[in-house]
Amino acid sequence: MGLLNVVALGGDGVGPEVTAAMLRVLEAVAARFGHEVEVVERDVGYSAWERHGTPLPQATLDECRRAGAVFLGAVGDPRADGLPPAARPEAALLGLRAALGCFANLRPAKVDVALEGASALRPEIAAGTDLVIVRELTGGLYYGRPRVWDEAEGRATNTLAYTDAEVERIARVAFELARTRRSHVTSVDKANVLEVSRLWRSVVSRIAGEYPDVHLEHMLVDRAAMELILRPRRFDVLLTENMFGDILSDEAAAICGSLGVLGSASVGGQVGIFEPVHGSAPDIAGRGIANPVGAFRSAALMLAHAFGLHEEARAVEHAVTGAFLRGLRTPDVARGTDAPVGTEAFTDAVVEALENSREEARGPA
Ligand code: NAD
Ligand code: IPM
Ligand code: MN
Repeated sequence: MGLLNVVALGGDGVGPEVTAAMLRVLEAVAARFGHEVEVVERDVGYSAWERHGTPLPQATLDECRRAGAVFLGAVGDPRADGLPPAARPEAALLGLRAALGCFANLRPAKVDVALEGASALRPEIAAGTDLVIVRELTGGLYYGRPRVWDEAEGRATNTLAYTDAEVERIARVAFELARTRRSHVTSVDKANVLEVSRLWRSVVSRIAGEYPDVHLEHMLVDRAAMELILRPRRFDVLLTENMFGDILSDEAAAICGSLGVLGSASVGGQVGIFEPVHGSAPDIAGRGIANPVGAFRSAALMLAHAFGLHEEARAVEHAVTGAFLRGLRTPDVARGTDAPVGTEAFTDAVVEALENSREEARGPA
C-alpha cells in the first residue's frame, strides 16, 4: 500500500472536466489495489490569472515541487489573446515544465483495438499502430533567446538553439525506451536546412553507438509527417525536438481517433508532469462531452512513471479499452451508428470496470 500524493491542476476549458474525471478513476484504481490518494488542487492558466493576477502562482509551483506527481488538465483561453506574453496561460505550462526540469515528454500513440474505426485513416492502415513520440520539452524555439516582438519595427524573432548536452540526454531517453519496445528509433529533424538539426543528428548518431542493439534511422520532418499517415506501423520510438514533437503528436492523435485520447508523461526532472496532449478545447468546454481518455492514459503513465505502479497502470488501460468494447464513445470518437455518451457516463463505465475487476480479483464470496 502506497500514498499517491498528486497535485491536480485543472486549468482552463475542458481541463477541469477531464481532471475531475481522472480523479474518479485514480480513486477507483487506488481502492482496488489498496493505495491511499492525497490530492491537492491548485490554480493554473487563465483561471489562475483571473484569481491571482498570474497564470502560474508561486503557491502552485511550491505545491508541485512537494508532490509525488503533477497532473495538469489543460490551459488556454481565447480571452487571453490580448494579454502580454508572460500573462498568457501557455506561459504557465512552459514555466512549470522548465521549473520542474521535465525535459522528456513521452507521448504514446497506440491505436486501441476497439477504436480502429475512429481513426482518421482507413482501419487497415491505422490498425496495430503503436509508437511513442519522445519530444524534447525544455529547449528549442519555445525557450530560445532572444525572443522579441518589436511592433514598431514590424519584426519578431524566436530563436532555435540546442546544446550537445540537451540532445544527448533526450536521445538517451529514446534509446532506453526503445530497448523496452521494438528497438527502433526514428530521429526526426530538418538537417537539410538547419544547423541545429545537423548538431541534433550528429549527437543522436554518436549516442546510438552506445546502443548497438537499437536500430537508428534519421528522417527529415516533412517526410516524417507523410510517413506517419502512410505507414504509421513502421514507427516505434520517434525522437524529436520540441516544436516538431508538438506538431507530430497531434497528427499521431488523429491516427488514434481523436486528440482527446492521447496522454503524456513529462519526466526527467524533480517531479513528473502528466497531462493529456489536447488543449482546453474552448469549442466544447462546459458541455460535458470532452473525451477523458487522454486524462486517464496520463494517469496510467503517472502510476507507472511517478509511483512505479505498473499493474495499476495496466488496469486503467484495460478499463478504458473495456469501456470502448462496450460501445461507449464520446462524440469525438463516435462514428456511424454509435450513440455518443458524455464525459460522465464514459467515466462511470471506466470506474465500474475497475470496481468489477476488484470483485473478480477477490473471487466469489
Ligand atoms: P485543442 O486541443 O484545445 O482543441 C483542438 C480540437 O480538438 C478542438 O476541436 C477540440 O474540441 C478537440 N478536442 C481537444 N480535446 C478534446 C477532448 N478531450 N475531447 C474531445 N475533443 C477534444 O487545441 P486548440 O483549439 O488549438 O487550442 C485551444 C487552447 O488550448 C489554446 O489556448 C492552446 O494554447 C491551448 N492548448 C493547451 C494545451 C495544454 O494545456 N497542454 C495543449 C494544446 C493547446
Ligand atoms: C502541448 C501544447 C503546448 C505545447 C502549448 C499549449 C504551450 O500544445 O502540450 O502540446 O506546445 O507544448
Ligand atoms: Mn500541442
